Amino acid sequence: MALLRTRARRRDRAVRDQPPRRERRGDAPSDGTEPRPPIVELRDATVVYPGGHVGVERVSFALQRGEFAFVVGPTGCGKSTLIKMLIREVEPASGEVRIAGRDINRLPNGRLPHLRRRIGTVFQDFKLLPNRSVYDNVAYALQVTGGGRRDIGRKVPEILRLVGLQGKVHSYPDQLSGGEQQRVSIARAFVNHPPLLLADEPTGNIDPETSIGIMQLLYRINRTGTTVFVATHDREMVDKMRRRVMALDEGRLVRDEATAGYADESTSEFALRVRAEMGVGEGHTNGEPGEPLDDEPGEPDRPRAGS
Ligand SMILES: Nc1ncnc2c1ncn2[C@@H]1O[C@H](COP(=O)(O)OP(=O)(O)O)[C@@H](O)[C@H]1O
Ligand SMILES: [Mg+2]
Repeated sequence: MALLRTRARRRDRAVRDQPPRRERRGDAPSDGTEPRPPIVELRDATVVYPGGHVGVERVSFALQRGEFAFVVGPTGCGKSTLIKMLIREVEPASGEVRIAGRDINRLPNGRLPHLRRRIGTVFQDFKLLPNRSVYDNVAYALQVTGGGRRDIGRKVPEILRLVGLQGKVHSYPDQLSGGEQQRVSIARAFVNHPPLLLADEPTGNIDPETSIGIMQLLYRINRTGTTVFVATHDREMVDKMRRRVMALDEGRLVRDEATAGYADESTSEFALRVRAEMGVGEGHTNGEPGEPLDDEPGEPDRPRAGS
């Protein structure tokens, strides 16, 4: 938060005499003169693993605020390496990784938790705590980032409603379907409303119908202004999403295409279209949100704390 706040302050000084701009974080650039740096920028980044194996090689691209982009490619092409580089779980041997204009590999270690708090991450295997309830899995994410009790009591029920799990608050991970477990992990990643959400094979372990619900949820999160970056080998899903697609091949970025999309689609229109295009029927609600899908979380009414 402070990182962006500091940026905002600096920016405010720089543009003091210019006409006012919307300052809401995560906003897409409103015009061609936008001075904010991309939320993600890689410059010639190369990762070499111990033993000399190259994870990714000279990868350069930028993600603008508010974008929804995919990285695709076969197993071993470097998708996870790319995602891990963005949270500094792996560091490039050469090149730069910039988040919101900052070279994260120059950050002191003490700033890492702060960086990671600003980036939500979702994994294929969910990484839920098996001995904690749905509520506690999400609350834990807030506790470790220093959230107070009141904050937690307000945010957890709110996010669980957003992902459609308000009825499963007291369930344990092994009592949930794969799609529901993934919803918990998305809730946990998004509970701090980070400006950037990364998802590494988020539909890798779930069936096609449930996958649509998960993509719909990521799409919905994107529509709140959060930049969403998804690694996947699910080509069919990616084609249907009609979003920007980058392709890796043996660690190299070999394609970067901004597909003409349906930028104004609502989340429910999106789900209807993708279902129809994938030939998946309706009426199966497993993993679907239990409330009508609006496009913004808006001002949900506050469920009781600790529920
Ligand atoms: N910790 C590691 N040590 C050595 N090599 C690794 C490590 N992690 C990944 N690799 C190698 O780097 C390449 C890219 O891996 P990865 O990013 O996991 O690909 P993907 O996610 O696309 O399947 C692969 O050849 C893989 O074997
Ligand atoms: Mg991977």
